Amino acid sequence: MECADLDECVQNWESIAGEYKSLENVNKEYLAKVEEVGDLQGQCVKQVSHQKYRLNVIAKSLKKFEKDERQDIVKRLWKDVNQRRQQLADIEQTLPKPNGRYLKIILGSVNVSIMNKEDKFRYKDEYEKFKLVLSIIGFFLSLLNLLAKRRAFELTFLFLLVWYYCTLTIRESILKVNGSKIKGWWRMHHFISTVASAVLLVWPNSETWYIFRPQFMIFNVLISIVQSFQFVYQQGVLYRLKALGERHNMDITIEGFHSWMWRGLSFLLPFLYLGYIFQLYNAYTLYKLCYHQDATWQVPVLAGLFFVLFLGNTITTSMVIPQKLREVKIRRIIKTYTRKMSGNRLGVDSKKSD
Ligand code: COA
Repeated sequence: MECADLDECVQNWESIAGEYKSLENVNKEYLAKVEEVGDLQGQCVKQVSHQKYRLNVIAKSLKKFEKDERQDIVKRLWKDVNQRRQQLADIEQTLPKPNGRYLKIILGSVNVSIMNKEDKFRYKDEYEKFKLVLSIIGFFLSLLNLLAKRRAFELTFLFLLVWYYCTLTIRESILKVNGSKIKGWWRMHHFISTVASAVLLVWPNSETWYIFRPQFMIFNVLISIVQSFQFVYQQGVLYRLKALGERHNMDITIEGFHSWMWRGLSFLLPFLYLGYIFQLYNAYTLYKLCYHQDATWQVPVLAGLFFVLFLGNTITTSMVIPQKLREVKIRRIIKTYTRKMSGNRLGVDSKKSD
């Protein structure tokens, strides 16, 4: 409310001066705490690297005792070392990390570490939703391009692809800094896709482009649908892991999660391979177009890029299944071992209490 007269203004001013004093005190306290947090972070980083160094020394020494007769102690120590490695990785997730080279180039040294688990989850969730929204837009734009032959629509779609893949590379680098286990190939895939989209964007309006254009648009319709299925799978994984509590940690309900994951993968994989076959078909069509009298440099470059994408995707996705099977097997072994150990301990305890 506005002051009725000057005296009221003076009174109000004096009253907010008191409030400002308290704000100043809170701010001082806040700055001191920020400094304290910085000190604690530094101490944690130092101690983590010290622990890592000592763990490596122990692990190296343990390798020498593979034939020692006291295998129970060796096995227990290995299990403890691996568990401590996991604990250290969890602690590292709460500490700031320097940006990788790519982020340093585009963002400078600004800190992109997300300290809080809830914020990390939200960031990953947003990343998946961003991909879904852009897939839906891509689906309609490629359909539009199939129905209408307008250069403006084509360029809009191709420019959107360049921007989309470029943005993905940045978001994925931020996810990586924050502990994502995303494989190098998927990040490379998005770098290559940025380049491929840029080459498509500068492909001149020629006969070769008009031969390839409908196939490319159908390919994009298919990819948008596959990406929506991927979204459902990744969101399922994300929310289930969140529900499990600690991500990448062993838990009793992890078996339920695994059975869901296998079902999701067996639904998704045929569509992914269909996409890869289409990528190979794109590479083949473009290769044939290289011999067309109208072919510009974009044609062989794109043929090569589609072939590289086909190879990289097929190899990486085919490696996921054995890798996941190995993970499940290792978890089972650890679990059986833990049960045995706790059974032994219980046995000892019950003997003690006898
Ligand atoms: N793009 C971005 N991130 C990916 C990814 C992809 N294609 N594949 C996996 N990741 C992420 C996961 O979300 C997870 O992240 P997190 O550590 O932050 O939780 C991490 O990488 C490890 O995932 P992983 O356990 O190796 O695989 P998954 O079970 O999450 O997914 C697939 C396995 C095969 C379903 C997935 O890799 C995929 O969809 N690949 C196909 C992608 C493709 O081919 N796209 C082009 C379509 S033609």
